[in-house]
Amino acid sequence: MATGMRKGLASYGDPGFSLFLRKAFIKAMGYSDDALDRPIVGITDTFSDFNPCHGNVPKLIDAVKRGVMLAGGLPMSFPTVSIHESFSNPTSMFLRNLMAMDTEEMIRAQPMDAVVLIGGCDKTVPAQLMAAASADIPAIMLVTGPMLVGHYKGEVLGACTDCRRLWGQHRAGTFSEDEIEEVSGRLAPTTGTCMVMGTASTMACVTEALGMSLPGSGSIPATHADRLRAAEASGARAVALAKGGQRPREIMTKAAFRNALVTLQALGGSTNGLVHLTAIAGRCGIAIDLDEVDQLGREVPVLADLKPSGEHYLEHFHWAGGTMRMLREVRELLALDAMTISGQTLGAAIDAAPDVPGQTIIRTRATALSSTGAMAVLRGNLAPRGAVIKQSAASPGLMQHTGRAVVFDSVEDMTLRIDDDGLDVTKDDVLVLRNAGPKGAPGMPEAGYMPIPRKLARRGVKDMVRISDARMSGTAFGTIVLHITPEAAIGGPLALVRTGDRIRLDVPARRIELLVDTATLDARRQAWRPPAEVTTPARGYAGLFQRSVLQADQGCDFDFLVEAPK
Ligand code: FES
Ligand code: MG
Repeated sequence: MATGMRKGLASYGDPGFSLFLRKAFIKAMGYSDDALDRPIVGITDTFSDFNPCHGNVPKLIDAVKRGVMLAGGLPMSFPTVSIHESFSNPTSMFLRNLMAMDTEEMIRAQPMDAVVLIGGCDKTVPAQLMAAASADIPAIMLVTGPMLVGHYKGEVLGACTDCRRLWGQHRAGTFSEDEIEEVSGRLAPTTGTCMVMGTASTMACVTEALGMSLPGSGSIPATHADRLRAAEASGARAVALAKGGQRPREIMTKAAFRNALVTLQALGGSTNGLVHLTAIAGRCGIAIDLDEVDQLGREVPVLADLKPSGEHYLEHFHWAGGTMRMLREVRELLALDAMTISGQTLGAAIDAAPDVPGQTIIRTRATALSSTGAMAVLRGNLAPRGAVIKQSAASPGLMQHTGRAVVFDSVEDMTLRIDDDGLDVTKDDVLVLRNAGPKGAPGMPEAGYMPIPRKLARRGVKDMVRISDARMSGTAFGTIVLHITPEAAIGGPLALVRTGDRIRLDVPARRIELLVDTATLDARRQAWRPPAEVTTPARGYAGLFQRSVLQADQGCDFDFLVEAPK
């Protein structure tokens, strides 16, 4: 039974008095006793003038409220932190756990029987699912949806794979100042999230597979009427959940996370998706095993022809059938009896997905973009606890490569020197960026997509092997090794590399090695000192972050928020 206004009564004297006070205050908003006696569905309001990816949230809230009321509940929206990628200094990842804590505690603090989580931009969906797992009241995820595509001089384009590509051309001198100015108005032409298979789209689609959103809802464009209908349906479903439906941890089981990992690989999804799934699973007491991730990377083909691995955009994927239709192609790898928030099993949702004649965006195994999955997990003396490469967005010719290290000690160091014409670098070198991990930067920024040094870019070099303890935007392309763990700032082996050392990348063998003998490395380890950023205590949230953040293989959550593995 729904408990509504009676839920979690704070003790102002006896419970009767507490309820009386609560009702007295809420009636100031004009609610009737009839309204207050119904199941209460909370709705997170993540609208912000700084978050265009959430620009449609007010309309979505209206539609969710309509759905809640049509189903006999009382909707109540409440604000939480909102994070946009471009407006979060030093990096959005620094704030993800803050949003997760805020969302969790506000769900817990306020009287609601279920909650509709409205998120979309990269860090918001992970933060909300982390919160839902920890608060563990019935919850349903509603994403804001992808932007429509942009158009420029007859070309279809979008945020932010094309932002990077065109900026690269601008850096190389082949795309003028006027052109770059004009195209800045075309890359993100509507509200909604980046419409390539970046992190936002990855999380939106993976959340469907995880069972936490209505099947088919993840890829509906932000501005389409169907998105409002999905919001209405999510609100109605939340009322059913409020009356004793499944709680998040009953949906997000070990099998559900495996389904999500299969989906991540088949989508050609963002490497960030792996970090976020690890964090969400960590809240459920489930450990994501990197060896299992790598094994799935060998078994699961990349099926979605979407940028940056392929050619198209999210709206094309949606009208081709979306995530559930794609999963039909790999159904033998899925736990089909996993329950979704809709009340349907994943198998039933997959069976119900539309077949779209003639579409070419969702491939079959026979026509896959790649017979292996998006991501491979690397290990070696440079990455004892693992590193990740998005092989579907890398250059085949660089997958086995040995080169000379050119080391940058921090993001600032890289920014200062990378375009210096005097920089001693060739296209065969390996660019190394360190102190850009969870503690080092801090917040593990998306600095792993290091620019090609300008003097090489001008000569037409498009890709080089680049390695770091940073993350990379899911919209980026290149032979880029990320999330090297442990990170340099806590003394990981990456801290010991010197310019001139040789580094071997061997993706087929899943190895990343520093070709320096052990005695030399031991001597360098003795001489190593942690950077001042890590040893100087910080105040406030930065201090909490510095003391508590875990490494990438543990999802970069805070140590005190993770649930002990079962
Ligand atoms: Fe929000 Fe890309 S910046 S999804
Ligand atoms: Mg992104």
